[in-house]
Amino acid sequence: MTELFPVPAEFAKQALIDEKTYQEWYARSVNDPDGFWGEHGKRLDWIKPYTKVKEVSYTGDVSINWFADGTLNVAANCLDRHLAKRGDQTAIIWEGDDPNDSKHVTYRELHEQVCRLSNVMTDLGVKKGDRVTIYLPMIVEAAVAMLACARVGAIHSIVFGGFSPDALAGRIQDCDSSLVITADEGLRGGRKVPLKANVDKALETCWSVKNVLVVKRTGGNIHMVTGRDHWYEELTAKAGATHTAVEMNAEDPLFILYTSGSTGKPKGVLHTTGGYLCYASMTHQYVFDYHEGDVYWCTADVGWVTGHSYIVYGPLANGAITLMFEGIPTYPDASRFWQVVDKHKVNIFYTAPTAIRSLMREGEEMVKKTSRSSLRLLGSVGEPINPEAWLWYHRVVGDNRCPIVDTWWQTETGGILITPLPGATALKPGSATRPFFGVKPVMVDAEGKVLEGAVEGNLCLAEPGWPGQMRTIFGDHKRFGETYFSTYPGYYFTGDGARRDEDGYYWITGRVDDVINVSGHRMGTAEVESALVAHPKVAEAAVVGYPHEIKGQGIYAYVTLIQGEEPTEELRKELVAWVRKEIGPIASPDLIQWSPGLPKTRSGKIMRRILRKIAENEFGALGDTSTLADPTVVEDLIENRMNRG
Ligand code: WT7
Repeated sequence: MTELFPVPAEFAKQALIDEKTYQEWYARSVNDPDGFWGEHGKRLDWIKPYTKVKEVSYTGDVSINWFADGTLNVAANCLDRHLAKRGDQTAIIWEGDDPNDSKHVTYRELHEQVCRLSNVMTDLGVKKGDRVTIYLPMIVEAAVAMLACARVGAIHSIVFGGFSPDALAGRIQDCDSSLVITADEGLRGGRKVPLKANVDKALETCWSVKNVLVVKRTGGNIHMVTGRDHWYEELTAKAGATHTAVEMNAEDPLFILYTSGSTGKPKGVLHTTGGYLCYASMTHQYVFDYHEGDVYWCTADVGWVTGHSYIVYGPLANGAITLMFEGIPTYPDASRFWQVVDKHKVNIFYTAPTAIRSLMREGEEMVKKTSRSSLRLLGSVGEPINPEAWLWYHRVVGDNRCPIVDTWWQTETGGILITPLPGATALKPGSATRPFFGVKPVMVDAEGKVLEGAVEGNLCLAEPGWPGQMRTIFGDHKRFGETYFSTYPGYYFTGDGARRDEDGYYWITGRVDDVINVSGHRMGTAEVESALVAHPKVAEAAVVGYPHEIKGQGIYAYVTLIQGEEPTEELRKELVAWVRKEIGPIASPDLIQWSPGLPKTRSGKIMRRILRKIAENEFGALGDTSTLADPTVVEDLIENRMNRG
């Protein structure tokens, strides 16, 4: 029996949404989407109000439009409209990598910084619809850069600072960015990240980039290319401090964010203006039960969608105080998160299961020696949270007092879709519980048959949907339809498996496609494979995920070397370093098994199911292997398996 955690009475007293409201709003959101969203769209400031609300079709040539005839500006919604009421209130609390380094930035200050950068960008020739790549550490300028793009109508594409020059180049080329905004170096856990040097390397193969803006973060020694590279501080100091936000259509693009899929190169997920901001701000308010003046901290990086929606856009649209952390959970020591909570009196704390699991290992004392008495609500995101980690988070971090919102969503969905509402939902450790407003989960079997009641299956989403959904893959609308709407026609297919229990609660079981989730970061097995086979000594490679105690999933690579190459320990290290260079540290294989052969069908298809089982150390249940071209290959793989835990 799963333990049930009812809404604490103390929490219920002040909660924005109770059970009755959840039921009423949810019913209306799916039965009368135009009425429901027509009302909630008004949470934003529109330049020209919309008269249309939902225009969505999941069939045929998939098209998704919300508030399509309205106009607005995202930066004006996140900044200008707050100035009268809370101009001098903190917008961003920035906590540096070094515990002695922090600052508060008010809404007025943030507004001025964004206006200055908007003027700089305009002077550099950036116009509405142009693409701007942001490759920055977790510094205030990252939020400023996003908002300045939104202000001038440029489409930003943030590339996580941990990605390699090659990965950065691919993302710049795919969307033809004309401007890159970066820093001299990043700083994480006391170590420097050579951001500008990486940009220089990437730009050797990118012809679209005309200008590079460089923020001075560490003062490290870097090379500036005359005519192309400019110091951010110099240009913004000279620029005007006011700027009129550009009027954008609700369906004009706001940003592209590249994410991994089961095949091919990373996809440029495209989000637009009105629906995205409405949904990000609404989920931020209700899922986190955000009240005026609360200090809210999401530990993600702005390089991921969580940072977009729940560090910058959602909180700032709500006039919230959002904390931005440059460092890592274990620097200077494993108490850092809780020290920051005490230092800034954080009320709402949102992190990933992988962080919880790694801190669990360091012992309770590291948590207990801090107060954490300001905390009211905890959140989890990025991967399934195992009940053991959930219970530890609840008991040790939250002192049995704070509800936990386990929020399931994706880069594609723009905002949280399945989640508890902390004043309404009784919690079950490990379950993301119930759908947010507008979200209609559907469980289907492998043939696409809709399953009713308590079942396990593939998780799809039916219309009416929610306004924060992605609109297309940048430059490839055909791939958009094929990837998400063709597996189960009429439904958006999430790529996740799930179980629905007798109370209608959802339990996400993980990806059912060739995507793996390593420490909450999404990786396509195909991407790691193509990096491996690009090495001159590798003939063939197959990559699968396997359960990893801290990371959730680890990367397991089967590698076949070309004839005559010796499988040495040295080569193993070389291949790990190679993948880090090709993609980035997050893609490093945890285990590499030398495989003279891979299990293939007679038609040459690699049987990944078998490779997955062996990687999971579950080779007793390999299932049918009779269609293999050479069944002896499997015996060798089992014999020499790398995971015996
Ligand atoms: C995949 C999406 C959503 C922002 C961070 C990741 C997994 C995400 C949960 C959760 C179980 C989760 C899913 C999903 N996932 N949150 N609460 N419980 N699984 O975004 O990189 O687009 O990855 O992360 O498998 O499909 P992303």
